[in-house]
Amino acid sequence: MTRPHIAVLGSINMDLVAYVAKAPQRGETVTGREFRTLPGGKGANQAVAAARAGATVSMIGAVGNDTFGTQLRSALDHSGVDTDLLRTVEGPSGTAHIVVDDDGGNAIVVIPGANDTLTTLSPGDTAEIASAAALLLQLEIPMEGVLAAAQAARAAGVRTILTPAPARPLPPELLAATDLLLPNEHEAAALTGLPDPADAARALLDQVPEVVVTLGAAGSLYVARGAEPVTVPARRVTAVDTTGAGDTFAGALAVALCEGNYLPQAASWASAASALSVQRPGAAASMPYRTEIDTEAGVTA
Ligand code: RIB
Repeated sequence: MTRPHIAVLGSINMDLVAYVAKAPQRGETVTGREFRTLPGGKGANQAVAAARAGATVSMIGAVGNDTFGTQLRSALDHSGVDTDLLRTVEGPSGTAHIVVDDDGGNAIVVIPGANDTLTTLSPGDTAEIASAAALLLQLEIPMEGVLAAAQAARAAGVRTILTPAPARPLPPELLAATDLLLPNEHEAAALTGLPDPADAARALLDQVPEVVVTLGAAGSLYVARGAEPVTVPARRVTAVDTTGAGDTFAGALAVALCEGNYLPQAASWASAASALSVQRPGAAASMPYRTEIDTEAGVTA
């Protein structure tokens, strides 16, 4: 099968991760077990996930002219992601300060650094988006950049998949240029004010044609205009680090959709990818390769 071509516009961060039995409360100091420096950022994570799942991927983003910037670019190169459209800008790269507890849960503070410079598209970015089968977007870069990319994709008839994370209000123009919205349950609630994921998903259908709400260990919920909702179960696994699980899902889902799969089928395959990623430490570092996903999903050649 020809590898689908996917473009990703988004953040690239160095993840500074402290592993600890229990995350500290406000005002508390705790001693952790281990510290790791790992490549991350929601955009870069989705790019790596899609590349490992079988797509050719180009990443549009920015790193700083610091050591992290060099390491982040090289990590993407090593994962087979095309970095020709990555800018290196004056100043620090993005960083994410992450605490992972013994249940695999996390809390994250992101300092955007170079990611904040992504406000406009170059002619090369626009051409790259127009040539892709799908565009993956998230919200760790300025909204102007996200909107410009979504509109470039829409103008070229390219399918846009938006992960609205971190949650923030979405301009109507962005929703109008989005084909598939991919929030987790918390983001769906934040966007709609509705705590129930099914209610939130239905409300979001007023603005986009298809919604998948990821529900962590409970799987995902797919809703589309004019169709019955479908719940896709997740595999039961023991999580050691859930950082980047949503990004793994997004990257794998995009690949499966570009290969022509029906959405619930694609979500089930993407859920196999996420299940593998949460059993390993790190975000991009934990993402599975195509053969592993196929084995986990029970796909035979
Ligand atoms: O989605 C996980 C990612 O969020 C981490 O890699 C971190 O960089 C933050 O952006």
